[in-house]
Order: sequence, then structure tokens, then C-alpha cells
Amino acid sequence: MKQSIENLRKYKNSKKIAVLTAYDFPTAQVADACGIDVVLVGDSVGTNVLGYADVLQVTMEDMLHHVRAVARGADHAFVLADLPFHSYETPRQCLENAMRLIADKADGVKIEGELEVVDSIRLLTQYAIPVCAHIGYTPQKSGGKPTAQGKDVRRAQELISSALALEKAGAFMIVIELVTEQVVGEITRLLKIPTIGIGSGPLCDGQVLVVHDMIGMTAKTFKHALAFGNAREELAKSISRYAAQVARGGFPTSANATAMAPEMFAQVKDWVNRNAFAADPNPIRDTPGNF
Ligand code: KIV
Repeated sequence: MKQSIENLRKYKNSKKIAVLTAYDFPTAQVADACGIDVVLVGDSVGTNVLGYADVLQVTMEDMLHHVRAVARGADHAFVLADLPFHSYETPRQCLENAMRLIADKADGVKIEGELEVVDSIRLLTQYAIPVCAHIGYTPQKSGGKPTAQGKDVRRAQELISSALALEKAGAFMIVIELVTEQVVGEITRLLKIPTIGIGSGPLCDGQVLVVHDMIGMTAKTFKHALAFGNAREELAKSISRYAAQVARGGFPTSANATAMAPEMFAQVKDWVNRNAFAADPNPIRDTPGNF
């Protein structure tokens, strides 16, 4: 059964919610089969898959392309799609772009921002589009360098007030990125909707990671993440073995090909010999089948 926002809300008091980014069909299929509750088609697709320098270059077209692929692989997980930079500057623009993501089979959308996106979240909720808020460090708006948020009283108060306002506007879930753990604890306690942390400690209702960080594909390591595998090393090993085998003629072998029946091939050989192709600069002088 498809994961619903009602279920996700119920999990707040019963189990932690596992959210993982996915940008393609096979990753979505595996995440789905492994019981991931929400697959996030994050704008982190830009840096992790498309080779962009930052997420600011990600377009709606990029997002739609990856959302379609992920949605094809996620039969159960809730497909959450990021609204990219510059795609929600007014509530109207936000609604139009959210509708495009939903039309391409996202189950909900995520928007970065605090009080400035309250009106957009309210409008999307009026149109029954599930919206996840995203506060704290927000890569689209906070600049390139990830910085911890909520270390001083004023910022802590801002974060708590924003979270409450976003919930009131209709957000069904909230991602909290790089926020001090005591502040996250307070937000989680005050909100009825689930809080999903990244770099924000254990007091959230769930956790999100970028799949490339989680499987050990990313070249860098981050304090907020944990690699549960070594995909980059495994990929490099496989590619090196493949390249070496091809270079020395070890792959492919006849086992990787299909053979023609010997009597058929004898006819082809005879046709080739009769036409003396090698000596002729314009070799097609007999029609195939004219034996
Ligand atoms: O784009 C993304 O991957 C995200 C997560 C880091 C929450 O927004």
C-alpha cells in the first residue's frame, strides 16, 4: 500500500521515519523494497548526480525528469519532491510548479524557508497538495557553507516560531537541517507533525540522508552523515576489473555471445569468398541471399 501523510503523522508517536533521497528508478525500487517510508527527490540531485557546483543550478525540468523516474520505482514509499531554487518566489508560482511535480507523480512537495513561505504553504494546502517544510540550514537560501543554526537564543526562538507557523499553515512534515539538538527537541515536542532531521541529532521523529552519502558513494565525508557501505570503492573495483579484462581480451568470451548454426555460417563464408570482399574497394556486388 502507498505510504500516506496520515500514516506518517501516526508514526510520530510510534516509530522513527526513514527518509532517503533517490534520484533514479533502480535506487527508488531498492529503497522501496527496503521499507524506506519517504523517498525524497531532493534538489541535491544537482550536486550528487548532475555534476552542478551547487543546488542553485537545478531547474524544474531537472526535477520533473528525476521525479518521473523515482515515481516509477516507488510503489509504497511516499515520493517527496523538492521545489528548486527560484521556482516558488510567489505563492502562485509555487502552486503552479507544485502542480507540475504532482502531475508527474510526486506525492508531495518540499519547500525551503521559514516565515517567508507560510503563504505558499497555506495556498498549496488549500489545493490539497501535501507540503513538507524545510528549516534551519537551507542550501538554496543559506549560501554554500553549511552552518549550524540555533546556537543563540534569538535564532532558536526564530526557528521554533517558524516551525509552529509552518505547521499552522498546513505543512504535513518538516525537515530540520543542521539545528542544535536541544532546539530540535523543543520543536519535536511542540509540533503535532513529524520532524525529520539531518545533522540535527536524535530527537527528531525521523531522519533523512542523501543516498550517495549513506552508501559511501560521495567522495567527501560529512559530520552529519554516516556511510553504511563503500559504494565508491566497490564501483571503482568493478570498473577497474572490467577495463582490465576488456584490455587483455578476457571479456567478452563466446559464453557472452550467440552462435550461428555451423551450416548457415558455412553458406555465409562461401558467399564472402565468392565475392572476394577484401580485394574490392566497393564490395557489395552480390545481394545477400544470392548464394
Ligand atoms: O535536497 C536534499 O537532499 C535535501 C535533504 C538534504 C533534506 O533537501
